[in-house]
Amino acid sequence: MTLSDSRRILHIDASARAGLSGRDRHGSHTRRLSRRFIDRWSALRPQDAITYRDVGSQPPAPVSGEWIAAAFSPPERRTEAQHAALAESDRLTAELVAADLVVIGAPMYNFGVPAPLKAWIDNVVRVGLTFGFDRARSGAPYWPMLPAGKRLVILTARGDYGYDAGERLAAMNLVEAGLTVPLAYLGLHDTDTVAIEYDEFADDRLAASIAAAETDVDRLVDGLTGSGTAANLAADRFSRASRRVSA
Ligand SMILES: Cc1cc2nc3c(=O)[nH]c(=O)nc-3n(C[C@H](O)[C@H](O)[C@H](O)COP(=O)(O)O)c2cc1C
Repeated sequence: MTLSDSRRILHIDASARAGLSGRDRHGSHTRRLSRRFIDRWSALRPQDAITYRDVGSQPPAPVSGEWIAAAFSPPERRTEAQHAALAESDRLTAELVAADLVVIGAPMYNFGVPAPLKAWIDNVVRVGLTFGFDRARSGAPYWPMLPAGKRLVILTARGDYGYDAGERLAAMNLVEAGLTVPLAYLGLHDTDTVAIEYDEFADDRLAASIAAAETDVDRLVDGLTGSGTAANLAADRFSRASRRVSA
């Protein structure tokens, strides 16, 4: 990525908490991390366009029977009512298709993503737009349709601790998989994750986790924008959480 290219970033927040932790009473850690990511990115690459979706405060409608019938009808055969049923999904899908980088503030709620973020996923997994389906196709009947080269950043927070790979609660962590599996199915494979843990404990471990996550976010932005030094990129802590997802 060179500074002359303009990139499009889709920034999504999903916390039900409105403010930012560290600034607002009862503020959100994931909003704090995503705001930090975007502010640092914009300072380094002011030419990039940011689209913001706050699904935490304005949840997309869950898919309905009418939505499903419309989505699986060929566009030229849809009724006016079916086009209307897909209007929000069309907007959300267009934002995802246009984005070079998707940055999601994704709290853990009951081990998975908050319902509004699941509703966003359900609205952007669209046959004929983000994935193809053909029963008669040889091999798998599904194929990804998102343009190649996109990247996903998950900025998450949890009340408990030990949810990373190999740790005591790893098997209960459905947040990352809840995002990476469906998005990889659409063709978005490259993911970086930064997490804050210990929110429920509100002690020194939370403070240390926030400080480490903020350092990781800064390094991640520097690495992705090409602004990091070789030394700090080599020493990346976040690289433990970076991975390529196949689906
Ligand atoms: C409805 C709800 C469900 C939660 N479920 C879990 C959970 O399953 N595991 C966990 O470790 N923390 C859980 N938490 C704690 C949150 O993950 C934690 O408060 C996190 O900081 C929320 O993100 P936010 O700060 O961006 O709002 C839950 C919190 C809420 C409000």
